Amino acid sequence: MRRLILTAILLAAGQAASADTIAIIGTGDVAGALGPEFAAQGHTIVYGSRNPDRDSVQELVAKTGDGASSTTQTEAVVDADIVVLAVPGMLVAKITESLGDLSGKIIIDPTNPMFRGDAGLEHAVDTSNAEIIQAVAPDAFVVKAFNTLNWRTMVEPDSSGGPVSIPLAGDSADAKETVATLCRGMGLDPIDVGGVENAHWVEGMLILWINNRYTSDRDSFDFYLRRTP
Ligand SMILES: NC(=O)c1ccc[n+]([C@@H]2O[C@H](COP(=O)([O-])OP(=O)(O)OC[C@H]3O[C@@H](n4cnc5c(N)ncnc54)[C@H](OP(=O)(O)O)[C@@H]3O)[C@@H](O)[C@H]2O)c1
Repeated sequence: MRRLILTAILLAAGQAASADTIAIIGTGDVAGALGPEFAAQGHTIVYGSRNPDRDSVQELVAKTGDGASSTTQTEAVVDADIVVLAVPGMLVAKITESLGDLSGKIIIDPTNPMFRGDAGLEHAVDTSNAEIIQAVAPDAFVVKAFNTLNWRTMVEPDSSGGPVSIPLAGDSADAKETVATLCRGMGLDPIDVGGVENAHWVEGMLILWINNRYTSDRDSFDFYLRRTP
């Protein structure tokens, strides 16, 4: 019922003007958070999995509802307008390459490339995963989004005790606006932080967050980037 009401509200507000097909690559925590939320906004979700018939994947499909389905990762992207790479952060180049031609599609990149170093978890690439994905798929529209917060906060932003913003980095203003609409539909506050080159700093925000979150002597926090009036 909540979904029907939300979809009706978004349609009435013109914020879900077109129902897109969204391929979500991966079926883990982030996929399981974003898929049902996007479906609730009227979009059709196709999960791309290495094992699309696995029980856990079928449970996610059933939970998502609204015409959701699962298939292989390469099949999932074929008819998709938007592709979400909800996959391990150190594998994005390989997985993006394996998906074939992504020209003209929006790619949402929530990933974080990390390794455990002397200072805790550290950023693992010189540029950013978003730039790596954009280089592999130069005619796609990459938007860095959703990487700075835990999946639980994505689906329950009020649980952090205040508003939560989602920094968006990418070179296409239209693609960022499409992703911003998805964020607003989840009760999140999207903030455009510029071109894909700024994804490096957005990925750095997660490094700060995760090391604080899991280090007992540091303050735990969620992000809110406040717009200047
Ligand atoms: N967890 C969070 O709260 C959170 C929040 C923000 C951002 N992130 C970032 O978002 C990304 C996904 O996080 P997650 O927590 O959802 O990860 P996860 O639970 O480990 O899920 C990743 C998914 O990727 C697929 N996968 C795993 N290994 C693969 C491989 N070798 N080749 C192709 N696909 C593979 C799997 O789906 P199948 O088994 O169905 O193929 C798996 O369910 C990560 O980069 C993470 O840093 C996580």
